[in-house]
Amino acid sequence: MILLNIPETGKIVLEFSYLLAAILFVIGLKFQSHPHTARKGNLWAAAGMLLAMITTLFLHKDEAGNAISTTNAIIVVATIIGGSILGSVIARKVKMTAMPELVSFFNASGGAASALVALIEYSKNPDSAILVTLLGLVIGSVAFSGSMIAYGKLAGKVGDIFSKVMTYINLVFLAGIIIIIVLVISGGQTADIKQYLVYGLLALSLIYGVSFVMPIGGADMPVVISLLNSFTGIAAAMAGFIYGNEAMKLGGILVGAAGTLLTLLMCKAMNRSLINVIIGSFGGGGASSDQVAGAIKEVSLSDASVLLSYSQKVVIIPGYGLAVAQAQHICHELESLLEANGVEVKYGIHPVAGRMPGHMNVLLAEADVPYEKLVEMDDINADIANTDVVVVIGANDVVNPAALNDPGSPIYGMPIIHAHEAKNIIVMKRGMGKGYAAIENFLFYDDKTRMLFGNAKDSLQKLVTEIKAM
Ligand code: TAP
Repeated sequence: MILLNIPETGKIVLEFSYLLAAILFVIGLKFQSHPHTARKGNLWAAAGMLLAMITTLFLHKDEAGNAISTTNAIIVVATIIGGSILGSVIARKVKMTAMPELVSFFNASGGAASALVALIEYSKNPDSAILVTLLGLVIGSVAFSGSMIAYGKLAGKVGDIFSKVMTYINLVFLAGIIIIIVLVISGGQTADIKQYLVYGLLALSLIYGVSFVMPIGGADMPVVISLLNSFTGIAAAMAGFIYGNEAMKLGGILVGAAGTLLTLLMCKAMNRSLINVIIGSFGGGGASSDQVAGAIKEVSLSDASVLLSYSQKVVIIPGYGLAVAQAQHICHELESLLEANGVEVKYGIHPVAGRMPGHMNVLLAEADVPYEKLVEMDDINADIANTDVVVVIGANDVVNPAALNDPGSPIYGMPIIHAHEAKNIIVMKRGMGKGYAAIENFLFYDDKTRMLFGNAKDSLQKLVTEIKAM
């Protein structure tokens, strides 16, 4: 009877636990699709991962039927505990604005781990699952080095190196990677030569990761970050195939699929093609016109309060500066105050505002802004011309008209929120600092624009006090 056969029972329980883990991953992903349930989603997915780790530790057997050795078990448990403590300390300490860098760093770690699995398994067993092993090595290495460069760029430590030549160099690297894979698979070489070719493949993949992210600059980083994220998932799935481990395969496939869908959405949002991302041929360069026409005009707090209070329709366009200032709560207070005075207030959300996908949604959800008030870019654009005032809070690139009318601009072609079409524009920022793309914004010099300089939180607080006193 099968239940009395302990090794067989262990295997069935292990496979069943992987199925359960996969179900928990899917439920977690579903919850993560809404800011209100995202935290719960993380916990469900983490529970799935914990289950898979524990059952693997106790029930996994190698081909010879041996369980994990005590030494290895101690190493695995110590690594899990050490990693969990380190991860939670870092995640608690990191500032919300530095979260995208942290995500890139974690992504790099995932890629490196998968590449190492592939490298070690190739050395141990060069003839088994060779294509999957080599693909795992390439994709994991690219995800690692590319994510480290993305980390440096997000932290402002690495600049863009843009040159049309880079596109061709990247194509040569890609061709080199394919040729080495074919050489290793097709056989004919000695084991030693194959091993050197695999080391060459590792080096080339690491270099390609750097060279394809390096030229991508300005506003185009979100597409690359989500692409690297999907690479890490795919590399983990490859590691799952190498080990024949269902939980790793499913977890990797889910991350890879979610990352790929996000990349496609980002490409659509940024009006870029995926192939251009892969060969690193957009953003960063271009001869943008920085010759501004017009003058900067400021608005006083009392004039801004009157303008807002006597409007019928107001659209708030939040950006990265709102996150830096942590002004989401006071922003919600302003919106509620205006609504109480009979003004219709909505938020115009650009898909890449801030520094990570969904940044503004998460930020505003934290301040309990009703989700239905957040209107996506295309929908809000249809209504902007009928809007009395748009209030741009800490946003810059996502409202820069250069994306529409300056073909030399690095952000040309990227869809923006059409703040310039509103009847009046109030821009809240600290000074004339540039946005992430480091280019001039003509919106600030528009005749209809009035600047309210200062930290967004302070300006909003003063505005709320002024409106209450009216
Ligand atoms: P940005 O273009 O980065 O502009 C933010 C503006 O906020 C700056 O011009 C800055 O001007 C102002 N600011 C900073 N701190 C402030 C504070 N405490 N109070 C008031 N204002 C403050 O932001 P955006 O419009 O949200 O655009 C996002 C950019 O980041 C895009 O180019 C996007 O492609 C890129 N990016 C996005 C992501 C994702 S996934 N969302 C990832 C990587 C890169 P002052 O210094 O004058 O105050």
